[in-house]
Amino acid sequence: MAKHDHRRVIALDGPAAAGKTTVARELADLMGILLFDTGSLYRSVTLKALRKGVDLDDEKEVAKIARKAKIKLKKASIDDGRSADVLLDGDDVTWEIRQPDVDANVSKVAAYPTVREALLEVQRDNADGNAVVMVGRDIGTVVAPEAGTKIYLDATVEERARRRYQDMRRQGEDMDYVTVLDELRERDFKDSTRATAPLRAADDAIRIKTDGLDVEEIVGMIEKIVRERWAE
Ligand code: DC
Repeated sequence: MAKHDHRRVIALDGPAAAGKTTVARELADLMGILLFDTGSLYRSVTLKALRKGVDLDDEKEVAKIARKAKIKLKKASIDDGRSADVLLDGDDVTWEIRQPDVDANVSKVAAYPTVREALLEVQRDNADGNAVVMVGRDIGTVVAPEAGTKIYLDATVEERARRRYQDMRRQGEDMDYVTVLDELRERDFKDSTRATAPLRAADDAIRIKTDGLDVEEIVGMIEKIVRERWAE
């Protein structure tokens, strides 16, 4: 690994719908630091592959897309609930990458080692020397193993499904709770059993179980931890 300075990286990992994105956004706002949601990269590659009609079972073709795609995360330019603008080859795909067809296919794309390799340096470079909240699955274990703070957010699958279901209803998606629950279980399974960079807490991560906690409480806990570390 090229030498990177990740001392002020806050690695925020955990399973789908554990509240990482909401917590990260509030934390970044509160502390006035950057936010980098790495799931956006895997989602953008998936969207591009779907748009181009690439066979998602063909790792080589999907990896080519990952290498060529120009994905940029910028400060939110529109106040519509987004935490950043996601640009794919210059197009704003912030909401497209959250659609159900991307949701249903992104785990497969993220499981390909060649895709992960293609996206690794982009993530490391973005974090280099920055005070940044990085949201993902393998930030503390693979992307930034020297991150100054590592947090692993978790919640029961039922609680996560309930949150995801409510989010979808708010966005006008017509899905039933049981389907959301089944899909989350499926994603958990794929994300945690894949051979490359599976979802798991780093040994030195602080685990926070978010059932029954509200966002402010979680953000407050993390902020306290980070401030203590940064004061050292
Ligand atoms: O956090 P999210 O739902 O946007 O993540 C989308 C997918 O990408 C999910 O299946 C896990 C995967 N992912 C990953 O493998 N590694 C990351 N650092 C971030 C996301």
